[in-house]
Amino acid sequence: MCGITGFTGKQPALPFLLQGLSKLEYRGYDSAGVTLVNSKKLTTWKTKGRLSELEKLLEKELPQSCGIGHTRWATHGVPSNMNAHPHMNEEGTISVVHNGIVENYTTLKEELIQVGYHFHSDTDSEVIVQLLDFYYKKKPVMKEALQKTIRHLEGSYALCITTIFEPNTIYVAKKESPMVLGRSKEGTFCASDAPALLAYTKEILPLQDGETAILNKDGLEVFDSKGRPIEPRYITFPYDIQSAQKGGYDSYMLKEIHEQPSAIRETLRGRFRGNQIILPKIEELEIDWNSIYNTVFIACGTAYHACIYANTIYQRYTGKMSYVMPASEFRYCDPAVDEHTLCIFVSQSGETADTLAALKLARAKGCVTVSVVNVLGSSIARQSDAVLYTAAGPEIAVASTKAYTTQLVLLHVLILKLAQLYGIRVKGIGKLIKDLKRLPELVEETLANDKTVKKYAGMLKDEHDAYFIGRQLDYPSALEGALKLKEVSYVHADAYYAGELKHGPIALIEKNTVVIALATQPEIASKTISNIKETVARGARVILITDQDMEAKEFKYVIRIPDMEPQLRVIPVAVLTQLIAYYAAKEKGCDIDKPRNLAKSVTVE
Ligand code: F6R
Repeated sequence: MCGITGFTGKQPALPFLLQGLSKLEYRGYDSAGVTLVNSKKLTTWKTKGRLSELEKLLEKELPQSCGIGHTRWATHGVPSNMNAHPHMNEEGTISVVHNGIVENYTTLKEELIQVGYHFHSDTDSEVIVQLLDFYYKKKPVMKEALQKTIRHLEGSYALCITTIFEPNTIYVAKKESPMVLGRSKEGTFCASDAPALLAYTKEILPLQDGETAILNKDGLEVFDSKGRPIEPRYITFPYDIQSAQKGGYDSYMLKEIHEQPSAIRETLRGRFRGNQIILPKIEELEIDWNSIYNTVFIACGTAYHACIYANTIYQRYTGKMSYVMPASEFRYCDPAVDEHTLCIFVSQSGETADTLAALKLARAKGCVTVSVVNVLGSSIARQSDAVLYTAAGPEIAVASTKAYTTQLVLLHVLILKLAQLYGIRVKGIGKLIKDLKRLPELVEETLANDKTVKKYAGMLKDEHDAYFIGRQLDYPSALEGALKLKEVSYVHADAYYAGELKHGPIALIEKNTVVIALATQPEIASKTISNIKETVARGARVILITDQDMEAKEFKYVIRIPDMEPQLRVIPVAVLTQLIAYYAAKEKGCDIDKPRNLAKSVTVE
């Protein structure tokens, strides 16, 4: 996945394809490619690296007036020339670009290999062009071949297809991955996101799930999921290019906060069969799981907070002891780890210097290493015994949001899997899996509190300090909430176990001090509430984040999370504290996406 453009018209297609892709560059990518078509052949250029690398391969004047383009953010197969899109069939007569994830691609690939197909890339996307070829050869009608192909695809896709058999036509299909269409007097366009089209038209047609479209130089036709023609529904796009790149939000941070439902959905895709957890990379490890005596979770910053959460969940579900350590400490503490130790590394970028050094140390000591990483093919991913990928997509804002919640979700799934491998039955697993699957909707519901959060966050505008408190699983949320607030709003924030307040920090609470209190864990709730009341008694203004059941009449500023399993409540709580940090920073006029002194990827010690 990442950026798609397509053009068919009365003038050369290449300028549109390239400028459209450049308008999608903000999304991040690792390779780029285009296919241009004339009546005799399809020509494809593709390369690892930036669009500028692709441009070096292209001749200046290319007259073809129909073509498709792609920028890829690797999800299956490392960034490479081979894995870059477009992908072609063997004869080079059909070319496809794809955004999304084909969940059942291994099955489809095996079936196609059995009937004589050859594959040249590690991508899930290549099965699409081979499947199209298969159906087209059975009956040479591309519209029907496309309908048959998408019927076999499980997962998400935005597809754009050119073929030598219809040199001025582009076929398009969409499910759970965005695709927009447009037209002007120059021709007809498609793209994975509106910014690519806005220099040409503001009349945009967002394709709906299950729909397909056929574009030619004079216009376009749209079809429903059964292939029946439907009336195209254009909208006048309300944003300029810059705000469209941020999805209409005023910052990437806010956009990425709102992308969490889909990021979580993608991360969970294909992970369950009934109550069985499907993590092939873990299953393939040749390990006697009962010889694992120690588990250590290791990461930096926000990812380290995800590890603190995972450490508690691991002990609860497996009944085994585990540890958690910042990578910057682990690498220097001469840890007592060996071949009976499972080390789990967590990193969005996969390049954090301390985490990488800790991984190398763990390997040198013979540990089993598993990483949870967002960037495919990154150093940490490559050097671990097994890697699990979060599917957060590129995270552009420096402050991590969707990467964090997808880490929480994937770590949870990994721990359920480990319990199964240890032969331990996790109590209530059916309900847990049900709620994991509901998380995208539950996060949507949480985001609906936006206006309330904004109002409450306003009280941080003139504050120098704030305190986050919580117990048990609310503690990592308190740490992460405080980190987010510090990073983007520069309000000094500390996090404490609520029960620890009376051992010192309560000395800091005075009239109007802002306390963000997290009380979502039923088994400790009454104790947490008592701790919170201790701060109220000293004049604190408490923003209480709690569940649906908590009696909270005495509190003025209350936000409730949707009802769900307590072990998963950390996810909506993260979303709310991210919003608090965002709105506090906005009130203060901070540069939200690029906080001072911080870099997105910390590749030096
Ligand atoms: C905070 C943040 C950082 C990162 C940390 C680790 O919002 O983004 O604390 O979490 O630098 O980075 P990764 O996850 O790339 O290893």
